[in-house]
Amino acid sequence: MRTHYCGQVNESHIDETVEVAGWVNRRRDHGGVIFIDLRDREGLVQVVFDPDRADIFKLAESARSEYVLHVTGSVRKRPEGTENPEMPTGMIEILGTGLEVLSTAETPPFQVDGYDEKIGEDIRLKYRYIDLRRPEMLNRLRLRAQVTRELRHYLEERGFLDIETPMLTKATPEGARDYIVPSRTHPGDFFALPQSPQLFKQLLMMSGMDRYYQIVKCFRDEDLRADRQPEFTQLDIETSFMDEEQIMGMMEEMIRELFARVLEVPLHVPFPRMSYAEAAERFGSDKPDLRIPLELVTVDDLMAGVDFKVFSGPANDADGRVAAMRVPKGGELSRKEIDDYTKFVGRYGARGLAYIKVNDIAAGRDGLQSPIVKFMDDAVLAELMARTGAENGDLIFFGADKTRIVNESLGALRVELGHDRGMVEHGWRPLWVVDFPMFEWDEGEKRFFALHHPFTAPSTSDPEELKANGHSMLSRAYDMVLNGSEVGGGSIRIHRTEMQSAVFDLLGIGPEEAREKFGFLLDALKYGAPPHGGLAFGLDRLVMLMSGAQSIREVIAFPKTQTAACPLTDAPAEVPEKQLRELAIRVRKPQAES
Ligand code: AMO
Ligand code: AMP
Repeated sequence: MRTHYCGQVNESHIDETVEVAGWVNRRRDHGGVIFIDLRDREGLVQVVFDPDRADIFKLAESARSEYVLHVTGSVRKRPEGTENPEMPTGMIEILGTGLEVLSTAETPPFQVDGYDEKIGEDIRLKYRYIDLRRPEMLNRLRLRAQVTRELRHYLEERGFLDIETPMLTKATPEGARDYIVPSRTHPGDFFALPQSPQLFKQLLMMSGMDRYYQIVKCFRDEDLRADRQPEFTQLDIETSFMDEEQIMGMMEEMIRELFARVLEVPLHVPFPRMSYAEAAERFGSDKPDLRIPLELVTVDDLMAGVDFKVFSGPANDADGRVAAMRVPKGGELSRKEIDDYTKFVGRYGARGLAYIKVNDIAAGRDGLQSPIVKFMDDAVLAELMARTGAENGDLIFFGADKTRIVNESLGALRVELGHDRGMVEHGWRPLWVVDFPMFEWDEGEKRFFALHHPFTAPSTSDPEELKANGHSMLSRAYDMVLNGSEVGGGSIRIHRTEMQSAVFDLLGIGPEEAREKFGFLLDALKYGAPPHGGLAFGLDRLVMLMSGAQSIREVIAFPKTQTAACPLTDAPAEVPEKQLRELAIRVRKPQAES
């Protein structure tokens, strides 16, 4: 049906007869001549119809936006003065000699050409097949395909086997709620969709596959954000007989090659490493955005003796923290802006946002403008200025609370200020975060959780040492962080039964529960398990960052909304009573709120 893509006809085809097919991007009538910009995957080409050929001209006149046309014509140079050097096809046009309307189109709900940013995302998702016609969207999906091609290429070259794992399976604990699927053949029983292939990839190592990878859908029923989807894609990897140094080395080489080949950017070699403790202390986050030159500074020792309970309380509490963050030139911030930032940190549980405006350091206390300097003596103020590196014109913010609240609130404020004040440096700042704690206390549920997952190896190979150190043990996990986003995470796994049992024990999972949930893993560990480890990249996140998109929905062809629904297909939906009966399910509708 065609000899060329629309976007690929150029000056080398002048005087040739070509056939193209595509969508009407725009039709213009000019002094008895009709111009149609025809669009396909590769771009636009201008087709001209003149009234000499009356029947074709009439057809061309009937064409509307998004009609699908098949055009035959001869390529000619555009008349002088009408060339468009911005367009790859801008030097030529096709003089139409044949025209076939392959499909008509109703007026689309929004224009593909001259797209308006104000179009609601719900409309874009409902008519996604039109939205995806926009070159911007097409280019993102093209980039995504290029990324997966390069990643596959890298792994295939190194002997990784692409192996599929089941979608209908048992719950794997990655910390989110499961999506469950009822079984008809086992009434009352349910499969879980995998939150990740974690246990299967470990079993593949125990099966002797040595190097595994898979580009795989994962399902997590959790609160959605701009960088989270209920169904998302991992590049999932596992290897045997490699330690964390070797795995991290290989994975960062893969990412470096990816960036070099796809974006033509060199990434820093090697990626810096930072402990979880240092990341929390300096950036209030386990995924620090190193492009932002703002840091948290601990001042507990200075505030322990001040006559201000809000500070001295947390400063003297083992679980508390008082941290300062210097904002260069922050003295410019207005009262209203400071109030807004106070509200901002409030969302993270902070009960206030104390500050000092540094007007004139040389003037001592008189040069500092703040509601709280009255509580501090001169020595404390002098040390505070020295430790934060404050200069005249700066502002220092303070957080004082439980360590978690201070880190989360000032960590978020750091990112917010960085963006608001244009302090985000250009470029790519990858790093590895390492030395994670094995366990994390959940105040709500009053119990310990695995910070990564319960199959992560502790930093000791001795189960007795693990038991002795208990919940303060570090793990052999690592996260790859890029510009403030966790793009991948993994660990060396436990490959001995005694260690796995010890970890379950510390998590409060008794032998019976362990057997019921993970009996198959405990069994497999008994039959010869190699030391193994791996990681998983969030493919959507990686492509989002690489494409500069603001949300992962922009790099997924058919994503879900913020409420985990699909406006295109109207999923999720009710199912007929008969189907429920077959599945032995009775639905309990939530009571309408009175
Ligand atoms: P983890 O839970 O850290 O590790 O997931 C790996 C990566 O997947 C991405 N990711 C998501 N992307 C979009 N939407 C989501 N809801 C979502 N959740 C996670 C993140 C994250 O870094 N089995 C382990 C990996 C391992 O240990 O090998 C796992 O799933 O970029
Ligand atoms: P107040 O004594 O409540 O007037 O607070 C004095 C200053 O301390 C105000 O700027 C508050 O925003 C700030 N503040 C109050 N609680 C905290 C806190 N937990 N962390 C940091 N600043 C706080």
